[in-house]
Amino acid sequence: MNKQDIANLSWDEYDELRDPRPDNNAFDAVVERAVSRRGFLGGALAFGSGAAVMGTGLFGSATSARAQGSAFAFQPIGIATDFDIHVPQGYQWKLLVRWGDALFSDAEGAYSPENGVLADLSDRVFGENTDGMETFVDGDKIILAINSEYANPDINLPVDTDGVPQSAEQVQMLKNIQGVTVLEIADQGDGYQVVVDSSYNRRITHETQMTMDGPADGSDLVRTNADPEGKFPKGTMNNCGSGKTLWGTYLTCEENFNGYFGTTGEREPTEGEIRYGIGGEGRYAYEKFDARFDLSKEPNEPNRHGWVTEINPLDPQSTPVKHTALGRFKHENAEMVQASDGRIVVYMGDDERGEFMYKYVSNGTWAEGQPPDGLLSDGTLHVAKFNDDMSGEWLPLTPETTGMDMAEMLVFVRMAGSKVGATTMDRPEWIAANPLRVEAYCALTNNKNRGVKPNAGGDETPVSGPNPRETNNFGQIVRWRPSGEDHGAADFTWDLYVMAGNPTLYDNKYGGSDNVNEGNMFNSPDGMAFSSDGMLWIQTDGDDSNEEEFEGQGNNQMLVGNPKTGEIARFLTAPNGAEVTGLTWSPDRKTAFVGIQHPGGSWPDNVGKPRSSVISVWREDGATIG
Ligand code: FEO
Ligand code: CA
Ligand code: CA
Repeated sequence: MNKQDIANLSWDEYDELRDPRPDNNAFDAVVERAVSRRGFLGGALAFGSGAAVMGTGLFGSATSARAQGSAFAFQPIGIATDFDIHVPQGYQWKLLVRWGDALFSDAEGAYSPENGVLADLSDRVFGENTDGMETFVDGDKIILAINSEYANPDINLPVDTDGVPQSAEQVQMLKNIQGVTVLEIADQGDGYQVVVDSSYNRRITHETQMTMDGPADGSDLVRTNADPEGKFPKGTMNNCGSGKTLWGTYLTCEENFNGYFGTTGEREPTEGEIRYGIGGEGRYAYEKFDARFDLSKEPNEPNRHGWVTEINPLDPQSTPVKHTALGRFKHENAEMVQASDGRIVVYMGDDERGEFMYKYVSNGTWAEGQPPDGLLSDGTLHVAKFNDDMSGEWLPLTPETTGMDMAEMLVFVRMAGSKVGATTMDRPEWIAANPLRVEAYCALTNNKNRGVKPNAGGDETPVSGPNPRETNNFGQIVRWRPSGEDHGAADFTWDLYVMAGNPTLYDNKYGGSDNVNEGNMFNSPDGMAFSSDGMLWIQTDGDDSNEEEFEGQGNNQMLVGNPKTGEIARFLTAPNGAEVTGLTWSPDRKTAFVGIQHPGGSWPDNVGKPRSSVISVWREDGATIG
């Protein structure tokens, strides 16, 4: 595979390249189980997986969502296959900000349809590949913090490079258009717009100076030639999902950091590198121009990435902090809630086939107005174990349970999770907690390796529990309720809120759960967030070919789910090629901000390059969204 092909792989296909483990039961993988859809939905234990789904499930009403009237204040929309955005009748949308739009007036004109973003202004514009985002309020100011997950080299670099950086300047440009953007927005009567030159506007990139806290701060594992104390990492990368702390700061979550490192010398990968897919050539050839990304020169640099990083978006001078107590893995998002006794709880998923779900619980407690000191540096990380009887438990990761010291355990927390017998999951993406009841949901986006081969650590991936389909190309959403209605509890019960599928093609479990029908079907749930009225918004990042088993599902989309009835309705469709990821609201919830990542064609300008963008969506009658 040549360098350009590697740069253009999806991040999950890149995982396969790093871990070309042979199938261990290829025969099973291609033989679809003869389980009727009715049998599955009619009885939780019909095929022995233990999974129950909404409609027959543990928690909800037993009534099919389809038999009920719509609980939503909009008419659900059909699929789309075009290069445009569609929203329900009575709603409008417009662009808020595109890759390359200026944050400062000196960067006006930094973007052109022919050449993309000028290198020397690339840290003065909105980044590429928008992802997680959150809204903050400072007096009468509204501030958004928005992740830019990665760069498309083919789009950003001159045509004659074939998408592979040829110079330190080109590497620097790619570094600059990723990371985090903080920007102020204002509605002057014509919808929200970016406030150019606002004192809040800020870019945080692969080069921004940071600090660390928690048990791995200063440990041998994070020391480098450039930072012999191991306390001052530079940069945040592959910023995927987001979170918001109860005290009003931003959490940016570092996901596929492994792909940024390569080696210029001969070098055998360590066990820890293999588990995280680190080694070989980096996706962006950084290592050829910057020794920090060269494993043969700085083998510990990758250990300084893959963390949850806290940013204060209201203070442009603040230094971001990497919280090692929350563990190092391919972080999707970080959903913060509070235990009954006031301790801080953070739910997190590790998005790789067969990896785990985590829960951090602080030792200290917090109440409104108190300083948050130590709450994200002093606590216990747990990993989820799901049982087939629909119970589950959070297994604590400690030196006693894992035989690893604290720093080693957190830097290589995947290996710690394997040691305690965590459940291998179908790619845990976003986790969202219901604001109206004590329960949380995780999008398990898909896993073609379920029941086919083990994860990168050799843990088996049996068809069981909340991962009930081998060669799972559709995905599902698992939800759990902690014992005693307390997010601090050690155990929980679970069910599946929805199993995505294609009911027009399959009369078995690949047809999906009872709340999936021809009118709302989708694949690969990914982004999720609850609105304050307790509705679950679901964004997809799946196969938008509209062909074969995805026929009738169209472009990626955003749907809304009612947690009580199971009803799911399609609200928005994206341009072909794009995933929908990142969702937040204006403080009055009358405008939703939605991320459109890696669109195809020339969306949205209809000329030149496709531009990842955030859009705003509102109701024509000025009512709240939903
Ligand atoms: Fe960045 Fe797992 O999505
Ligand atoms: Ca995602
Ligand atoms: Ca995804």
